[in-house]
Amino acid sequence: MSNCKKVYVTTPIYYVNDVAHIGHAYTTIIADMLARYSRLVGYETFFLTGTDEHGQKIEQSATKRGKTPKEYADEVSGKFRTLWDDFDITYDKFIRTTDEDHKAGVQKAFQKMFDKGDIYKGNYEGNYCVGCETFFTSAQLIDDEGCPDCGRPTTIVKEESYFFKLSNYEDKLLALYENQPDFILPKAKAKEIVNFVAGGLNDLSISRTSFDWGVKLPDSFGDDKHVMYVWLDALLNYVTALGYGNDEENMDFWPANTQIVGKDILRFHAIFWPAFLMSLELPLPKHIAAHGWWTRDGEKMSKSKGNVVDPREIADAYGLDAFRYFMLREVPFGQDGDFSQRALMDRINSDLGNDLGNLLNRIMGMSGKYFNFKVSSKDVAKFHQKELDEVNALLKNIEEYIFDMQINKYLEDLWKVLTIANKAINDYEPWNMMKNDKEDEAMALVGLIVNIMAKVSILLDSVLPAKVKAISQCLGFEVNNATYKSLIKNEELLGDVVITKIDALFPRIEEELLAGADINKAESIVEKPRKESNKKETTSECENVITIDQFFGTELKIGTILEAVEVPKSKKLLKLQVDIGEEHPRQILAGIKEFYSAEELVGTQACVVANLKPAKLMGMLSEGMLLAAKDENGLSLLRPESKKTSGTKVS
Ligand code: MSP
Repeated sequence: MSNCKKVYVTTPIYYVNDVAHIGHAYTTIIADMLARYSRLVGYETFFLTGTDEHGQKIEQSATKRGKTPKEYADEVSGKFRTLWDDFDITYDKFIRTTDEDHKAGVQKAFQKMFDKGDIYKGNYEGNYCVGCETFFTSAQLIDDEGCPDCGRPTTIVKEESYFFKLSNYEDKLLALYENQPDFILPKAKAKEIVNFVAGGLNDLSISRTSFDWGVKLPDSFGDDKHVMYVWLDALLNYVTALGYGNDEENMDFWPANTQIVGKDILRFHAIFWPAFLMSLELPLPKHIAAHGWWTRDGEKMSKSKGNVVDPREIADAYGLDAFRYFMLREVPFGQDGDFSQRALMDRINSDLGNDLGNLLNRIMGMSGKYFNFKVSSKDVAKFHQKELDEVNALLKNIEEYIFDMQINKYLEDLWKVLTIANKAINDYEPWNMMKNDKEDEAMALVGLIVNIMAKVSILLDSVLPAKVKAISQCLGFEVNNATYKSLIKNEELLGDVVITKIDALFPRIEEELLAGADINKAESIVEKPRKESNKKETTSECENVITIDQFFGTELKIGTILEAVEVPKSKKLLKLQVDIGEEHPRQILAGIKEFYSAEELVGTQACVVANLKPAKLMGMLSEGMLLAAKDENGLSLLRPESKKTSGTKVS
């Protein structure tokens, strides 16, 4: 675990020649989680993200669109920034490599490396991949031509170039990997880097003359035709963002605690970057943490394949917090993962809906039914020291997982804590305690559950910020550094609290709602899951019965189907206009296409759930649901025996 008071967390800066996809969102969400966590526990935190805007690739993309590189960079950089703003990413600075102070800082660094004797002028001839902005040796090429990273053809480039004496840093780098074994995280990834460096490092060409779109060399070089190699320019953003070479205002945040990168750019960050820093006589970051890649149906995502998953679409459909949780929980840090909506839906229904959301429902139900929503922790330790000990043992060292980048383990342990709470309710059966006049014991049990929920929610704040806000409002306490210290660090309990009822945290997503949509495909998305189906939302803990009032909470009406059309590209959905006696017909999307044709439905009647929260299916609003019964012989709509006036109540 990091003991430093100041924590600096960075994402890579994103190339502006691509649209943001879930891979970019993944890197950013991990960094945002670290930053939020660091702030909560009381570290002074600086979180940097931004865009990488120079280089031949960007120049070419801009030209293709008839724009200047700067116009093009402005546009795409703006889109990244808006996305992160909409995602509530808590960056402290958004750097652009076209920022004047960044460029000035890069020139200062170049000068310093030169003065140190680490830069010399020579000639370069090599196989260059424009897409990856990287030179490769002939031995590295695929079939003597293809780029080993992206497969595209490389071209032979011969040009005058400035070189960085990377070969001078071979031994120092090997010593770094040896002495700082957690410099590269996960540690297992260090091996390939060590092998690469041990295999010998060539000096690095760090300037180009074949294009113009980059940071010029310092004026003192009088060498106008050179621009800096984009990776030198880009890597230096991590220090220029803190004021390096300018006002140095935030340089006390350096060295970074954790620099998050994808595995594809680990080599740049674990070899070039520390070598540049050594040359600049700056301290080295504590961790370069490399995550794996998200694929789609096992394939790399790319615009040309058309299989890019848009993070905004997923977050709009399933909720931002659920998306964050899924990304952080689904795949162990460092490993690759395949994105599927099925897996996302399962996580939401199971981890978030059942384990977390339903526990909060149980708190609201029990506290309301038994204690008029007033809960005291007074006797929790007296009756539940065993459970408290188990909880404290799990939470004691959980923080280490965060800075070791074992985020999935962190979440797994938090879920173990939730299991202690859910199990305690089932084991102690508070409803029987109440029946047997053991009110004190029931209060202690409910108090235990409230405290467990409070502790877990504090530690979930960095993962589910919006939902934790709702939980803390429900439990009547605030998530902040003070409550972190008392409830987590000092293992204390809450005082008396008044519970406030709130809506279900993660309403269950029913598979029927995805009817007609292939749930493994990103283009089929449900926007608002059905709230009513959060099965255990009732306050009856022990009996699966409902009161007549609860039954009448569901408004059932006879509807007349006025229009029916097939939803294109959907195997199951029909779009219906249904008259339920209101001014306008309701639009209802029903997953019944396999059983009814559109034509045969028009003019018939069905029973409609009229007060269902509207949901979006395949981008279209559905304002109700038809009742139907399905068995092995097929599906039948439930209809009145004889025609009824549209809107007639069903009771
Ligand atoms: N501009 C460089 C980084 C310079 S940092 C000094 C760059 N940009 S990028 O836009 O191509 O990638 C940025 C980040 O997104 C990288 O960490 C990369 O690994 C990540 N991802 C891009 N596609 C990804 C997936 N499909 N899955 C997970 N992350 C991936 O590289």
